[in-house]
Amino acid sequence: MICASISMDLLSILSILLSLATLAYSQNFDVTKYGAIGDAKSDDSKAFIKAWKDVCGSTLKNPSLLIPEGKTYLLNPTRFEGPCKSDVAVQIIGNIIAASNTAPVWKETQSKVWITFSKVKGLNISAKGKLDARGADWWKACSNMQGCIRPTTLASHGCSSFRVRGLTSVNSARNHISISGCNHGTLSSITFTAPDESPNTDGFNIATSNNIEILDSNIGTGDDCIAINNDSSYINITGVRCGPGHGISVGSLGKNGEETRVEEIHVKNCSFIGTDNGARIKTWQGGKGYARKISFEDIEVRNSSNPIIIDQYYCPHSVCKNQTSAVWISDVTFRGIRGTIRKEKAIKLHCSEKVACTNILVEDIKLDSLVSNKKAYSSCTNAYGRSSRSTHPVECLLK
Ligand SMILES: *[C@@H]1O[C@H](CO)[C@@H](O)[C@H](O)[C@H]1NC(C)=O
Ligand SMILES: *[C@@H]1O[C@H](CO)[C@@H](O)[C@H](O)[C@H]1NC(C)=O
Ligand SMILES: *[C@@H]1O[C@H](CO)[C@@H](O)[C@H](O)[C@H]1NC(C)=O
Ligand SMILES: *[C@@H]1O[C@H](CO)[C@@H](O)[C@H](O)[C@H]1NC(C)=O
Ligand SMILES: *[C@@H]1O[C@H](CO)[C@@H](O)[C@H](O)[C@H]1NC(C)=O
Ligand SMILES: *[C@@H]1O[C@H](CO)[C@@H](O)[C@H](O)[C@H]1NC(C)=O
Repeated sequence: MICASISMDLLSILSILLSLATLAYSQNFDVTKYGAIGDAKSDDSKAFIKAWKDVCGSTLKNPSLLIPEGKTYLLNPTRFEGPCKSDVAVQIIGNIIAASNTAPVWKETQSKVWITFSKVKGLNISAKGKLDARGADWWKACSNMQGCIRPTTLASHGCSSFRVRGLTSVNSARNHISISGCNHGTLSSITFTAPDESPNTDGFNIATSNNIEILDSNIGTGDDCIAINNDSSYINITGVRCGPGHGISVGSLGKNGEETRVEEIHVKNCSFIGTDNGARIKTWQGGKGYARKISFEDIEVRNSSNPIIIDQYYCPHSVCKNQTSAVWISDVTFRGIRGTIRKEKAIKLHCSEKVACTNILVEDIKLDSLVSNKKAYSSCTNAYGRSSRSTHPVECLLK
């Protein structure tokens, strides 16, 4: 009996010691402990930066910046700089709202990004809350003002081994998430929303990055759901629902004569719902380099226009002058793309007269026009490759 009661006491002392220890060494750095108010009106930027300094300087295993639930934090354009002492986590459980577009801080900082993570290794962002950039005010303010730069919601530069899970971003002023100079990343269960007519509100914009996976996400925006740009490779996209928006694009590449190297881009098990364009590769005339080893497979299309498109004469604005060089497009597969299209053009392979597209494989395509009595058709210029098992033959491909 005596023995038993002693061991009980020991146990409870031990458990008290243990909980004290976890308090002292908690790896959660809660922004509200650093003065964040979360009333959607008070500026919480200083508290976020102070907490980040402690997270980033911590030698604990996986220190974490915690943005707790039930509140909405107002944040100026803010940079979370690395490198940090350990791999760090960010838990966005509450919501974050951007400083108003008329706040002087935008002019003062000249920032083109709202939230930046720079040179952070092993960044692990998990979110339940949402980021609201209050884009509508920017779209309006910038619509008739030259040189008005709308900020990207979240940008990550120079990161490695990162993951983002569960994040929601609404009404970005420009891109929702931009990734550049990053490698080995997984982004999953992401939701982006912005109206169909909102300007340049790309979902993901990826450049000079490799080994990136985008999984199981729902993207509805006014521009590309995903755009893969300059010098990116080994990018896999699966389980993405895109629409409204401009589809999933490789490019635009080769603007202003730029040399580019893009390869191993694989898009699988995705859907395009009511999009302008779908599986798309776009390059400017005059570019150099290549875009190759690209596949779009198992894609559902509903009421989209241009579901399959290669355009080497990309020219979104005025007139572009014809030039002699082009980004070489080769080894592209479109396979298992099925559904309905808004107009009649199912496949458009518009390749440069100077640099042909080569080894284009078009397989197992079934696209029906929603325009009554109109049959879906294909058009090509200077595209070499082969097609099989399509409801409407792609006769225009050159052998
Ligand atoms: C990232 O953070 C989430 C939530 O805190 C956690 O469940 C997950 O295990 C972390 N992943 C890694 C690789 O540390
Ligand atoms: C394209 O990528 C290369 C490096 O990979 C870089 O030097 C160049 O500045 C990039 N171009 C643009 C327009 O971003
Ligand atoms: C990316 O997709 C390609 C082609 O579908 C596949 O071979 C590769 O294993 C995938 N990589 C990852 C990391 O999922
Ligand atoms: C395809 O993606 C959806 C999400 O959009 C997912 O639920 C489903 O499991 C995926 N199917 C396969 C075969 O990967
Ligand atoms: C297809 O989309 C257009 C434009 O958004 C819309 O007007 C039309 O009603 C849609 N058709 C179907 C069958 O969903
Ligand atoms: C450029 O070349 C294309 C393809 O040959 C042709 O259709 C177009 O008219 C040309 N544009 C100009 C501005 O010369």
